[in-house]
Amino acid sequence: MDVVQNLPQSDVVILDRGDGTSAAVHLHGATLLSWQCQGKEILFLSQNAVFDHKKAIRGGVPLVFPHFGPWQHGPQHGFARIKRWKLEIPPSKDKHGNVISAFSLEDDEFTRSSWEKRFRLVYTLVLQEKELSFSLVVHSNDQNPFEFTTLLHTYFRTPDVTRTAVIGLQQLKYTDKVNNDQVLEETREAILLSENYDRIYSNCPPEIVVGRIADGNCSAVLRTLNFPDIVLWNPWTEKAKAMSDFGDEEYKNMICVEAGNVSQPIKIDPGQQIEFTQSIQILPAPSL
Ligand code: BG6
Repeated sequence: MDVVQNLPQSDVVILDRGDGTSAAVHLHGATLLSWQCQGKEILFLSQNAVFDHKKAIRGGVPLVFPHFGPWQHGPQHGFARIKRWKLEIPPSKDKHGNVISAFSLEDDEFTRSSWEKRFRLVYTLVLQEKELSFSLVVHSNDQNPFEFTTLLHTYFRTPDVTRTAVIGLQQLKYTDKVNNDQVLEETREAILLSENYDRIYSNCPPEIVVGRIADGNCSAVLRTLNFPDIVLWNPWTEKAKAMSDFGDEEYKNMICVEAGNVSQPIKIDPGQQIEFTQSIQILPAPSL
């Protein structure tokens, strides 16, 4: 949270639910920087993250749109994470004490210079006592159908990535991006990382669990709608060293579990809107 406190107030939107539960969103990319759940930080944010309003922020939850991965028309993972978003609904409490806030992004000269589509994105966060929900609505204002991919690039914090387990992906096919895009089948019930991981699991169930996150005594239950893929990523030693905005040893304290729609592009028709959601519930147990 120290990093977040030192940022200009005009860049950061705080959702504060009280009792040590809050979230901080940077308008650059509408990047969720921090989520404190009853005093515990759930997300990883690199000590070397750059806040220059140009580069994507290394950590939290950057939002990938309209393209996941290297892109022939523009920056890796698209432009949504490097554009300044508009605060659409300032944080406000509902009758249950939950805090809602929403952000929006529309096509402009910059986005159309690389990708000539007319769109509007509305990204809504709802902060509950032990749960955070994310909704991304993609509206097409274009005259023709177009395709895109999208993903929420969630960086979880962990005291020891080798003990953090991802549960719920057994028997699924995955594309192993660090192994020539080989398509393999997951055999393990609990996936533990011990090297550079960059895998796209497809046809995922709507609920998976990430055990031993935050201070190591919590689990996260991820529930998704319209996000059939899960990307597991950790750069490990060598790739960590090659990243200028990531500490050499920080790979030990993070795991990216990214809900997305990336295996197959999604087609959207003129005037149509499509909603993608993720909710993360924190359980006070390692759940292993
Ligand atoms: C993951 C990709 O989602 O993001 C990886 O699967 C990529 O291939 C990683 O290295 C980080 O990307 P970036 O652009 O934030 O460095």
